[in-house]
Amino acid sequence: MSTTVLNATDLTSARKKFTTRQFQGKKERGERITMLTAYDYPTALLMDQAGIDTILVGDSLGMVVLGYENTLPVTMEEMLHHAKAVGRGARFALKIGDMPFMSYQVSPQEAVRNAGRFLQEGGMDAVKLEGGSERLDCVRLIVAAGIPVMGHIGLTPQSIHQLGGFRAQGKTAAAAQRLLEDALALQEAGCFGLVLESVPARLAALLTARLDIPTIGIGAGAGCDGQVLVSHDVLGWFERGSPRFSRQYANLHQLVGSVFEQYIQDVETGSFPAVEHQTEMPDEEWAALIKRIG
Ligand code: KIV
Repeated sequence: MSTTVLNATDLTSARKKFTTRQFQGKKERGERITMLTAYDYPTALLMDQAGIDTILVGDSLGMVVLGYENTLPVTMEEMLHHAKAVGRGARFALKIGDMPFMSYQVSPQEAVRNAGRFLQEGGMDAVKLEGGSERLDCVRLIVAAGIPVMGHIGLTPQSIHQLGGFRAQGKTAAAAQRLLEDALALQEAGCFGLVLESVPARLAALLTARLDIPTIGIGAGAGCDGQVLVSHDVLGWFERGSPRFSRQYANLHQLVGSVFEQYIQDVETGSFPAVEHQTEMPDEEWAALIKRIG
C-alpha cells in the first residue's frame, strides 16, 4: 500500500459521512464543494480516500465508459450496475445517481419509482435529473418520497437534439433570465443543489448569489459553490480528449496504452512470465509423475 493511501486511510477514522446537510453547510460557511464522477469500485474507493465530498455516477457513463455517441442510449439497468459498484467503493462521499434519459420524463410516478431504485438497489444517497420548470412536478414528488434531488440546468446533454448540440446556454439576456427563473423554481420545488453546466461565468455567479442552495459548476466559471468534472477528463482516460473547461491532471490514455504495448512485447519475446512468476512442484513429485506416465 502506498504512503498516500495509508495517510488517507488514517484520516478516515475521524471522518464523517458527507450528507446533504454538510453540502448545504459548506455553502453557508463559504467553503468550496468538491465533486467528481465515478463509474466503478476502484475509482470510487480512491476518490473517497482522497477526501472528495460528493461522487456523481453520471450518465456520462454512456460516453466515457460504454462508448455511446451521447448519453441518450443509457438505461436504468446500466446506471444501476455502475451505481452499485460505486456504492460499494465509497463510504464517506455523498453519492448521487444520475437519472438517465426517459427514466423521469414520462411521468412523475415513474420518476419516483426509478429514483427509488437508485437508493434501494444502487446504494446511492440522492439523484440528479436534468431540466428546469418542466421538471417541477417530478422533483416535488421525488422529494416527497424522501429522496434528495439535485437539479441540472444550462447545457443538459439529454436534450442535445433540442439544444442543437453541445453548446453553452444562457448567453442572451432572455435565456439567462429563463435560467434564473428555472433555478429559483427548482429550489422552491425542493432541490438540495443545482448543477450549472456550460453557462457564462457571471451568470453562474449571479445564480449562486441568488440561490440559498449550493450550485455546482461545470464549464460555469469559478463563481459557483462547488465544481464537478468528469473523472475520465481529469485523468486523460478518454481518447477524444478533454473539453476546454476541464483540467487534465494525467494522461492515462497514453500511459495505459503503453502498458498494453509493453505487455504484448513481453509475452511475444518470452520475457514474461519470468522465473519469479511461476510455481514449482517438489522434485520427488515430478519424478513420481514421470515414472507414472512414462
Ligand atoms: O453525467 C455527468 O457526468 C454529468 C456531469 C457532467 C454533471 O451530468
